[in-house]
Formats: sequence, C-alpha cells, structure tokens
Amino acid sequence: MSRFTVIVIILVAFLAAVIFVYRDFAHSNAVPVPGADTTPALWFGRDIVSAPRGAQGDLIRYGYELIAHTAKYIGPAGSVAHLTNGMNCQNCHLDAGSRPWGNNYGAVAATYPKFRDRSGSIESIIKRVDDCCIRSLNGTPPDSNSREMQAMVAYIKWLGAPVAKGQKPYGSGIRDIPVLSRAADPGKGKIVFQSQCVACHGDDGQGMKDGDDIAYQYPPLWGPHSYNSGAGLFRLSRFAGYVKYNMPYRNNYDGAAQLTDEEAWDVAAFVNSQPRPVADISLDWPDISKKPFDHPFGPYADGFSEQQHKYGPFGPVKAKKR
Ligand code: HEC
Ligand code: HEC
Repeated sequence: MSRFTVIVIILVAFLAAVIFVYRDFAHSNAVPVPGADTTPALWFGRDIVSAPRGAQGDLIRYGYELIAHTAKYIGPAGSVAHLTNGMNCQNCHLDAGSRPWGNNYGAVAATYPKFRDRSGSIESIIKRVDDCCIRSLNGTPPDSNSREMQAMVAYIKWLGAPVAKGQKPYGSGIRDIPVLSRAADPGKGKIVFQSQCVACHGDDGQGMKDGDDIAYQYPPLWGPHSYNSGAGLFRLSRFAGYVKYNMPYRNNYDGAAQLTDEEAWDVAAFVNSQPRPVADISLDWPDISKKPFDHPFGPYADGFSEQQHKYGPFGPVKAKKR
C-alpha cells in the first residue's frame, strides 16, 4: 500500500467515526436548554446500526427485529411461535419506536418500572410489553424468560438509555391534542376515513398483507385481526393523537399535523365504533376514580355515561376529574 492510500484510509475512517458519534449525540439528547430556545428539541430514537457489537448487541438487534417484524417471528405464520394477530409492534410504534410523536419508546427505559392505575400495581417493561401482546396484538405474550421477551426489553432499554431517569422527553409517546367542545362524530369520521384512509387501509378497514402474506403492508383498523377493545388505541384520545401526527402515513419527523383536530377525533370515533375483538378487562382500574376521561367502559365514579366517556364531549368529564 502506498503511503497516500494509508492516509486516505485513516482520514475516511476518522470521518466515519465523527459522523457516527455526532448522529448518535444529535439524536439522543433531547433535554431542553434552560433559557435558550422555547421549543425543546424533539426526541429521536437512535438508529439500530449504532447498537454495540457482541452478545448484548445481538440481543438488542434481535429485539429490534421482533418489534419491526413481529408477525414474521410470532404472528399466525411466525417462525418462532404463533402468539399474536399478525400485526407488527411497529405498525403502531413507528420506526420500531424511534420516531418523534410516533408512539415511540422514548420515555420507557427512563420511567419504568412505574405504578400504573390501569392495573393498580407497579409494572415492569415486561409487564407493559405483555399488555400490548394481549391487547394491541390480541394474543399471548412470549414467556418472560424467553429470548424473544428478553430481546424486546433489551432493545427498548438501549433505545431509551440516553434519557435521564424519570424524564419524559419532548416528542416521546403520543402527542396529546385538545378535546373538542362537541362529541366526536362517527358519521363525520366516516367521511374522513373514506377520503383519507381507504387508499391504504381499504374500504373495509381490513388493510392489506404484503407479498409474503405474513405481515401487513397496511395494517387493519378493525375486525378480527385488529387490536382489541382493551388496547390503548381503543381510547379516542390515543387514536386521535396518534393519527393526527402520523396518518395518512408519511415520514414527518417534524411532527407536523396532517389532519385537523376535528378530523382526528371524528375518524377515531368512526374507527372505534366498528367491530373488533373484545377483551376481558374486568381486572382493570381497581380504583374506578382513576379511569382516564376517555375510558369507554363503566362503572365510573363521576356519573357520566359510557357514551360520553367514549365519544365526549370530554370537557365536562375532564373538569370534574380536576
Ligand atoms: C395496535 C397498536 C399497537 C401495537 C400493535 C403495539 N402497541 Fe404498544 N402501545 C400502543 C399504545 C396505544 C400504547 C399506549 C400509548 C399511550 O398511552 O400514550 C402502547 C404502549 C406501549 C408501551 C409503553 C409506552 C410508554 O411510554 O409507557 C410499550 C413498552 C409498548 N407499547 C410495547 C409494545 C410492543 C413491544 C409491541 C409488540 C409486541 C407493541 N407495543 C404493540 C399501541 C400498540
Ligand atoms: C399512504 C398509506 C396510508 C394512509 C393513507 C393511511 N395510513 Fe394508516 N398506516 C399506514 C401504514 C403503512 C401503517 C403501518 C406503519 C408501519 O408499520 O410502519 C399504518 C398504521 C396505522 C395505524 C396503527 C396500526 C393499526 O392498524 O391499528 C392506525 C390506527 C392508522 N394507520 C390509522 C389511519 C387513519 C385513521 C388514516 C386516515 C386518516 C390512515 N391511517 C391513513 C398507511 C397509511
């Protein structure tokens, strides 16, 4: 090798290292600087290519795979087990839980284990993943000691490791949107659905499988292969906030809204008034006064009807909660 070649190789390697470190840094530090800009930096999950080498890295990469391509491993035609409904975690946790406002995992490593009113107990990350397997994937979770569960948890912890303990970075999870002064209207939502959603999710909301017939290219929004009535998206506020900033599907890292608030609430009301698997949630919310304003199943401590808790108007419900 000539000396020139050696110098070029060293320079390229150095440059690559700088870009790599910078990208990781730029994407993982979302802590607002006091007194600087008023809008805090948006949390981005780091790219899986920056996972460490070695056995722990392999576990993290497998966890990423499972979250991005869940059906391939544990769906109805899965290569490891047949546990879930055919959807991928990534269908709802966009870019494997790394996309700003894409229902991401930005706050998970930093805030779990935590007390959750839904179960009335302290929940680990495993318990929370179990819940999504049972409700959102309308199935059975992998055993807590399985390599699959260990891998998903390793990935989620790695993704959230740069976030300081107890912090919920700006851009993590689902973005809340203001409630309407009226009830959300399934009839108006049907019009939104027909103009903005059917191109991908289909007239019948059943989505479309990809070429291999294993996973979905466009996931179902209701029906037997969709999330069940105990899932987070069955609450109107979760659905509306998720959809407003992510649907119709495109890569919008800036988190710009694509639907108006009204369109988001109404389409949520339409989709969540369609048939879907029913979950047994009889053990949820042991303290009924802790139910969220949009939890659609009674009994309630506040005297409002199931109808109002499902569709609104939510203003009075929220006011009474305060
Ligand atoms: C049908 C949509 C959907 C699917 C599929 C899904 N989830 Fe979720 N997940 C949600 C919603 C909605 C929430 C609650 C978000 C909120 O309350 O703001 C949630 C919450 C979570 C949380 C807690 C997030 C937090 O910040 O507290 C974890 C962890 C999680 N899901 C993991 C998974 C894993 C792993 C899979 C696949 C095995 C999965 N989910 C599949 C919709 C889904
Ligand atoms: C351009 C195609 C496209 C359009 C239009 C579109 N979506 Fe989606 N949607 C997707 C894709 C693709 C995913 C899964 C993303 C992934 O796996 O990365 C998805 C996921 C979802 C999910 C979470 C997974 C599930 O099936 O429950 C919901 C909810 C959703 N879309 C609702 C809507 C609504 C409501 C509209 C209309 C306002 C809409 N989408 C318009 C492509 C689209």
